[in-house]
Amino acid sequence: MNARAGLWVLLGLALAGLSIAATTPPAPVTAPTATASSVPAPRAQDQCFVCHKEIDSPETRTWETDVHFVAGMGCASCHGGDPTKDDEEAGMNRAIGYKGKIRKADIPGLCGECHGAKHTTWRERYKLTDVADSLMAGVHGQALRESDKGPQCVSCHGVHGILHVDDPRAPVGPLHVAQTCANCHSNAKYMREFDPRLPVDQFTKYLTSEHGKRNAGGDPKPATCVSCHSNHTIYKVKDPRSPVYATKAPATCAKCHADVKYMAKYDIPTDQYDKYRKSRHGVALLEHFDLSAPACNSCHGNHGALPPGSADVVAICGNCHQSNAELFQKSPHKDVFAKKKLPGCVVCHGNHDIDAPTDALVSLAPRTPCAKCHRADRSDRSAPTIASLHAVLDSLHAGQAETLKLLDRAEQLGMDVSDARYDLKGAHQALVESRVAIHSFRLAELRDVAEPGIVIVSAAHKSAHDAIHEYYFRRKGLAVSTLIVTLMAILLYLKIRDIDKEARKG
Ligand code: HEC
Ligand code: HEC
Ligand code: HEC
Ligand code: HEC
Ligand code: HEC
Ligand code: HEC
Ligand code: HEC
Ligand code: HEC
Ligand code: HEC
Ligand code: HEC
Ligand code: HEC
Repeated sequence: MNARAGLWVLLGLALAGLSIAATTPPAPVTAPTATASSVPAPRAQDQCFVCHKEIDSPETRTWETDVHFVAGMGCASCHGGDPTKDDEEAGMNRAIGYKGKIRKADIPGLCGECHGAKHTTWRERYKLTDVADSLMAGVHGQALRESDKGPQCVSCHGVHGILHVDDPRAPVGPLHVAQTCANCHSNAKYMREFDPRLPVDQFTKYLTSEHGKRNAGGDPKPATCVSCHSNHTIYKVKDPRSPVYATKAPATCAKCHADVKYMAKYDIPTDQYDKYRKSRHGVALLEHFDLSAPACNSCHGNHGALPPGSADVVAICGNCHQSNAELFQKSPHKDVFAKKKLPGCVVCHGNHDIDAPTDALVSLAPRTPCAKCHRADRSDRSAPTIASLHAVLDSLHAGQAETLKLLDRAEQLGMDVSDARYDLKGAHQALVESRVAIHSFRLAELRDVAEPGIVIVSAAHKSAHDAIHEYYFRRKGLAVSTLIVTLMAILLYLKIRDIDKEARKG
C-alpha cells in the first residue's frame, strides 16, 4: 500500500468511527456487577422507561433530569427486573428480583446499595459516601425504625427526579432546605405522632432571623437548618453529640462567624467567638461545663438569631440574672437608657467579653461606663451619690480584705479568732448581695443590704484587733510575772544561803 492509499484508509476508518459515535447511545459508565441495584441499564435500551413513558407514568416525567438517569442508570437499578424486555410480565418479573412497591423503611437500604458502606463499582467511580449508615445513626433513623412515616432519603431528596445537591433547584440546596425540613417540622399533626412536646415553630422563627431573611432574599451563605444541625446524622438537640448541644453550639456558630474570609462581604465583626471563649460565660461553659452559663443561642435565640435589640437585652440577661434585671428595671436608669435606645446591661458589662465586674466599675474616672453620662463635678447631682455608692462597696470589700489580714496576724500569734473568722463569712454574703443591689443605683437601697455586712466587718475587725492587743497585753503580763518570780527566786536563794551560813556558824 502506498502512502496515499494508507491515508484514505485512515480517513475512512476515522469517519466510520465518528458515525458509530453519533448513533451509539452513551455507554454505561461502568461494567455491570452481580447485584440488581448495580446493573446499569443503558438508558435508551431501558424498556422499563420506554413502556412507562408510553403509558405516561408520573415517575417518567422528571426521570430525565434525575442524576441517576444522567449517570446512565435505568429503572431496574433500583426496582430490579429485566430492563431489556419490552413485555410487562417478562420485565417486571419478581422471580428475578423485581420490586414494585418499595416499603419506606427499606429505602435507606435500597439507596445504600450504592450510597452505603458496600464497595461497588458505582461507589468507587463516583466516590460516593456512606450516607445510609449516617442517616440511620441519628434521630431520623431512629424515628424511621419506629414508624414507616419517619424520615428517609426520599423525604428530603425526592425520587425519580433527584438532583445534584449543588443544583440550585435541589430541595436540599441552601435556598430550599429550610422549607424541606419544615414540610415535617412545621406540621404539628405529623410531629405529634413522634414527640408531642417538640416545638413546631422553627421555620417561622427562622424566617424572622437575620439568617432566614437573607436566605429568603437569595443569599446562600447565612446559616440554614443543616449548617447548625448537620444533614444526615442529626442528633436530638439535648444529645451531647449534637452540634447545637450547649457546649458545642459556640463552635458551630464560629464555623462561619469567626471565618474572616467567609464573612468578608458582610459588614459585621468576626471576633464574637474569640471574646466569648475568654469571657466569664465562655470559661464557665466551655472549660467548666457549667450548663447554666449561656451559649451564643441563649442570648440570640435558637432560630430567631438576631442581635438582641436594646429593648430585649435586659429580659435576655434577666432570664438568668433575675434580681439584677428587676432592680435595673426599677432604677432611674431604665427610662434614660430606653430613651437613648441603649442596650441595658451591655452598656456596663459588654456582650461577648463579659468579665467579672469590680468596684472600679462604679467610678467617674474617664472611660468608665458611668463616665459615658455622668460627670465628676457639681454640674451632675448624681456625682456625690456615685462616690457614696463606691464607698459603701469599698467599706465592705476593702474592709473585709483588711480584716482578713488582721485575723491572719492574730492567728500567727497563736490567738484563737475562729469565731470572728466564721462571722466574717456573713459579710462576704452581704458583699455578694450588694453587688446585685447596686443595680437599683439608689444609695438607701444599697445601704440596707450592705449595712449588716458592714456591722460584721467592724465587729470582726474589732475582734482581730482585740486578740492582737490581748497577746501583747499577756506578753507584758508574762514579763512582769517572770520578773517577780525571778526576784522571788533570787530572794529565796539569798535567804537559803543565809540560813546555810547561819547553820554552819551554829
Ligand atoms: C410493556 C410495558 C411495561 C414494561 C416493559 C414495564 N412496565 Fe412496569 N408497569 C407497567 C404497567 C402497565 C404498570 C401498571 C400496573 C398496574 O397499574 O397494575 C406497571 C407498574 C409498575 C410499577 C408499579 C408497582 C407495581 O408493581 O405495580 C413499577 C415500580 C414498575 N412498573 C417498574 C417497572 C420496571 C422496573 C420495569 C423494567 C424492569 C418495568 N416496570 C417494565 C408497564 C410496563
Ligand atoms: C434511585 C432509585 C429509583 C429509580 C432509579 C427508580 N425508582 Fe421508582 N421508586 C423508587 C422508590 C424509593 C420508590 C418509593 C417511593 C416512596 O415510597 O415514596 C419508587 C416508587 C415507584 C413507583 C410507585 C410504586 C408504588 O405503587 O408504590 C413507580 C410506579 C416507580 N417507582 C416507577 C419507576 C420507574 C418507571 C422508573 C424508571 C423510569 C423508576 N421507578 C426508577 C426508587 C427508584
Ligand atoms: C433530613 C433530610 C435528608 C435526608 C433524610 C437525607 N438527606 Fe441526603 N442530603 C441532605 C442535605 C441537606 C444534603 C446537602 C448538604 C449540603 O449542602 O452539604 C444531602 C446530601 C446528600 C448527598 C451528597 C453529599 C454526600 O454527602 O455524599 C447524597 C449522595 C445524599 N444526600 C444521599 C442521601 C441518601 C442516600 C439518603 C438516605 C440514606 C439521604 N441522603 C437522606 C438531606 C437529607
Ligand atoms: C445503583 C446505584 C445507586 C443507587 C441504588 C442510588 N444511587 Fe444515588 N447516585 C448514584 C451515583 C453513581 C451518583 C452520582 C451521579 C453523579 O455524580 O453524576 C448518585 C448521586 C446521587 C445524588 C446526588 C449527589 C451529589 O453529589 O449531588 C443523590 C442526592 C442521590 N444519588 C440520592 C439517591 C437516593 C435518595 C437513592 C435511593 C432512592 C439513590 N441515590 C440510589 C448511584 C446510586
Ligand atoms: C443558627 C443555628 C440554627 C439554625 C439555622 C436552625 N437551628 Fe434548629 N436549633 C438550633 C439550636 C441552638 C437549638 C436548641 C438547642 C437546645 O435546646 O439546646 C435548635 C433546636 C431545634 C429543634 C429541637 C426543638 C426545638 O425547637 O428546640 C428542632 C426540631 C430544630 N432545631 C429544627 C430546625 C429546623 C427545621 C431548622 C430550619 C428551619 C433549624 N432548626 C434551623 C440551632 C439552629
Ligand atoms: C419526613 C419528615 C421529616 C423531615 C423532612 C425532617 N425531619 Fe427532623 N425529625 C422528624 C422526626 C419524625 C423526628 C423525631 C422526633 C422525635 O421522635 O423526637 C425529627 C427530629 C429532628 C431533630 C431532633 C429534635 C429533638 O428531639 O431534639 C432535629 C434537630 C431535626 N429533626 C432536624 C431536621 C432538619 C434540620 C431537617 C431538614 C434537613 C429535618 N429535620 C427534616 C421528621 C422530619
Ligand atoms: C453557615 C454559616 C453561619 C452559621 C453556622 C451561623 N451564622 Fe449567623 N450569620 C451568617 C451570615 C452570613 C450572616 C449575615 C451577616 C449579616 O447579618 O450581615 C449571619 C448573621 C447573624 C446574626 C445577625 C448579625 C447582624 O447584626 O446582622 C446573628 C446575631 C447571628 N448570625 C448569630 C448566629 C448564631 C448565634 C449562630 C449559631 C447558633 C450562627 N449565627 C450560625 C452565617 C452563619
Ligand atoms: C450573654 C449574651 C450573648 C452571648 C452569649 C453571645 N452574644 Fe452575640 N450579641 C449579644 C448582644 C447583646 C449583641 C448586640 C450588640 C449590642 O447591642 O451591643 C450581640 C451581637 C452579636 C452579633 C452582631 C455583630 C456584633 O458583633 O455586634 C453577632 C454576629 C453575634 N452577636 C454572634 C454571637 C456568637 C457567634 C456568639 C457565640 C460565640 C454570641 N454572639 C454570644 C449577646 C450575646
Ligand atoms: C443562660 C443564663 C445566662 C444568661 C442568658 C446570661 N448570663 Fe451572665 N452568667 C451566667 C452564669 C451561670 C454566670 C456565672 C459564671 C461563672 O461561674 O463564672 C454568669 C456570669 C455573669 C457575670 C460575671 C459575674 C461575676 O460575679 O463574675 C456577669 C457580669 C454577667 N453574667 C452578665 C450578664 C449579662 C450582661 C448578660 C446579658 C447580656 C448575661 N449575663 C446573660 C448565666 C447567664
Ligand atoms: C450602669 C451600669 C450597670 C448596668 C446597666 C448593669 N450593671 Fe451589672 N453591675 C454593675 C456594677 C457597678 C456591678 C458591681 C461591681 C462590683 O462592685 O463588683 C455590677 C455587677 C453585676 C454582676 C455581678 C454581681 C452578681 O450579681 O453576681 C452581674 C451578674 C451583673 N452585674 C449583671 C447585670 C445585668 C444582668 C444587668 C442588666 C439587667 C446589669 N448588670 C446592668 C453595673 C451595671
Ligand atoms: C446612659 C447614661 C448613663 C450611664 C451610662 C449611667 N448613668 Fe446614672 N444616670 C443617668 C441619668 C440621665 C440619671 C438621672 C436620672 C434622673 O435624674 O432621674 C442617672 C442617675 C443616676 C443616679 C442617681 C439616682 C438617684 O436616685 O438620684 C445614680 C446614683 C447613678 N445614676 C449612678 C450611675 C452609676 C454608678 C453608673 C455607672 C456604673 C451610671 N449611673 C451610669 C444616666 C446614666
